[in-house]
Amino acid sequence: MKDSNRPIGIFDSGIGGTSIWKEVTRLLPNESTIYLSDSFNAPYGHKTKQEILELSIKNTEFLIQQGCKLIIVACNTATTNAIKYLRENYSVPFIGIEPAIKPASLQTKTNTIGILATKGTLNSELFEKTSSLIDNNIRIIEQIGEGLVELIEAGKIETQAMDSLLNSYLQPMLDQNIDCLVLGCTHYPYLINAIKKITNNSISIIDSGEAVARQTKRILEQQNLLNESKNIPSKLFYINKDKKVLEDILNGSDYTKVEEKNF
Ligand code: DGL
Repeated sequence: MKDSNRPIGIFDSGIGGTSIWKEVTRLLPNESTIYLSDSFNAPYGHKTKQEILELSIKNTEFLIQQGCKLIIVACNTATTNAIKYLRENYSVPFIGIEPAIKPASLQTKTNTIGILATKGTLNSELFEKTSSLIDNNIRIIEQIGEGLVELIEAGKIETQAMDSLLNSYLQPMLDQNIDCLVLGCTHYPYLINAIKKITNNSISIIDSGEAVARQTKRILEQQNLLNESKNIPSKLFYINKDKKVLEDILNGSDYTKVEEKNF
């Protein structure tokens, strides 16, 4: 198969990276994709750097075996802990996702931004480095989203439990006068409606999904890897746990197949 006709690989600790997949397929509808939802091992956010690295290697090798031409690490926790290693050890191009604190720091009027992310992301060297580059006048209020990924993976997005957990994280940030909230985990775009409700639409919610899709397009163009075939692209999903939750989150999207598989 011509290199450019091969699929884009995408992986996440679970179903959250589908928020990135949706942006990517919106911008690049001709591309075939293979999405890995490592839900059996979710959440990655509490694991050690070494464990996150090993899981990221496992996912990468599976996608390379499937012939992927580029890999999107659709997980902030895996990107901030493993992308350097992946780029140094595999020849396919990698696109990662990191919390968008820079754009938030340029947008804030109260000089206070909030970030909601996993422990693994907030404690990573890469996040520390990125936040050290932010203007000293900007306060960054960090909050670990303990329990949010677990509820999303259990299909409990629009629930009282979710609302009260989110409220307990957002209220202290609002009390400290944040006007921008950075979503530092690819699961969290599925909470935007709940966040808007809790914050009375009073803050900007910043997420990097669209930027990841644009960067993917840029790299495919640069490397002459955009799919030019006229065949209908295939959009495959593999999950190593009950597939129902993934099918539910994809409801209304155009995809080929969701399959339960050990990888
Ligand atoms: N979607 C992952 C991220 O962006 C969730 C991490 C987890 O599994 O804890 O960080």
